[in-house]
Amino acid sequence: MASHHHRLHFSQLLFISSFLFFGLYVCFLPSPVAAQCKNPPVIFNFGDSNSDTGGLFAGLGFPVDLPNGRAFFGRSTGRLSDGRLLIDFLCQSLNASLLSPYLDSLSESKFNNGANFAVVGSSTLPKYVPFSLNIQVMQFLHFKARTLELVTAGSGNFIDDEGFRNALYMTDIGQNDLADSFSKNLTYIEVIKRIPSVISEIKNAVKTLYDHGGRKFWIHNTGPLGCLPQKLSLIQLLQKKDLDTYGCISSYNAAVRLFNEALLHLCQKMKSELKDATIVHVDIFSIKYDLIANSTKYGFSNPLMACCGFGGPPYNYNIQVTCGHQGCPVCAEGSKSISWDGIHYTEAANAMIASKVLSMAYSTPRTPFDFFCRS
Ligand SMILES: *[C@@H]1O[C@H](CO)[C@@H](O)[C@H](O)[C@H]1NC(C)=O
Ligand SMILES: *[C@@H]1O[C@H](CO)[C@@H](O)[C@H](O)[C@H]1NC(C)=O
Ligand SMILES: *[C@@H]1O[C@H](CO)[C@@H](O)[C@H](O)[C@H]1NC(C)=O
Repeated sequence: MASHHHRLHFSQLLFISSFLFFGLYVCFLPSPVAAQCKNPPVIFNFGDSNSDTGGLFAGLGFPVDLPNGRAFFGRSTGRLSDGRLLIDFLCQSLNASLLSPYLDSLSESKFNNGANFAVVGSSTLPKYVPFSLNIQVMQFLHFKARTLELVTAGSGNFIDDEGFRNALYMTDIGQNDLADSFSKNLTYIEVIKRIPSVISEIKNAVKTLYDHGGRKFWIHNTGPLGCLPQKLSLIQLLQKKDLDTYGCISSYNAAVRLFNEALLHLCQKMKSELKDATIVHVDIFSIKYDLIANSTKYGFSNPLMACCGFGGPPYNYNIQVTCGHQGCPVCAEGSKSISWDGIHYTEAANAMIASKVLSMAYSTPRTPFDFFCRS
């Protein structure tokens, strides 16, 4: 068995090194790591645009046009990226199919592999507006009740009780709570005062899922908001001089760090309170900040400049002419960019982020991802 492990490890390394030198070709590789599960788990995801696989499109009819999707799907799927998102790579690494948005009434999967409740723009608060985390969880509860009714009625291939119990429940939310506070011109102190109520919403969500039988949780923290070209271009207008060594907005990232510390603390607390639960916290911030700070090492250039955007250096972002709008320029090689549209990451960056997530180095507690395979 040791040799088997060794082989896997080696091919992972091989992927990473070939990625470093031939970053351009990453879009032709199926996944940064081999599929790990013989039987993939059912997966449910809750969150915002970082993990929305088409929910905004399906739920509100909001158009998301090409060049979104150009590097992998060859068409727009509603994902805000040129290709796959981190969650797509994570699904693939479990040998699971990509998740359909819950609101996609024409889903081919019929949701027998799970569902994605994440929608672009979602935050935890306010609590009762579409599609806050609370509403996403209520949608899940409806989905679960209805699915089990159908199972009881014997009508076809739906997730059963065991499927829900052994499912992987993922969340990636909080970024918009912080971003919205800053864009409302709240002071730093006012922004960080809101953090406990955001954390409390995430706690409610996990607790509710647990009370309904969920036991396996995978929780992403929030990335470096202050390094997003969108934020940088807007703050430039305000003539703020608040940039760190890498050119990111210090106060934004400081607030994110405080949020992330509180989230880690919450995860550890819940792990001792919720019997039999596995709760893994993943430090997305460190992965993305490293990618930006050391971009050259990873084969990327201009880490603070959007590939798809308008206005040229330093950020190539203009809020009037954003990616997907007619006439918005797009760079030739998305595989060299970290930022796709000024807010979201490229497929190439997401592939690199996924390989770091799967390395376990950023997980607390360190948990191999194949832990989530269905036995
Ligand atoms: C992944 O799933 C496919 C199709 O269900 C299966 O043939 C394959 O053996 C699985 N991979 C692993 C590593 O188990
Ligand atoms: C925030 O402040 C800037 C500059 O003073 C102003 O242009 C903008 O309209 C303000 N935004 C809000 C939401 O109040
Ligand atoms: C950049 O890479 C170096 C060397 O691997 C590492 O020590 C450092 O922490 C990285 N920077 C950031 C901001 O992650």
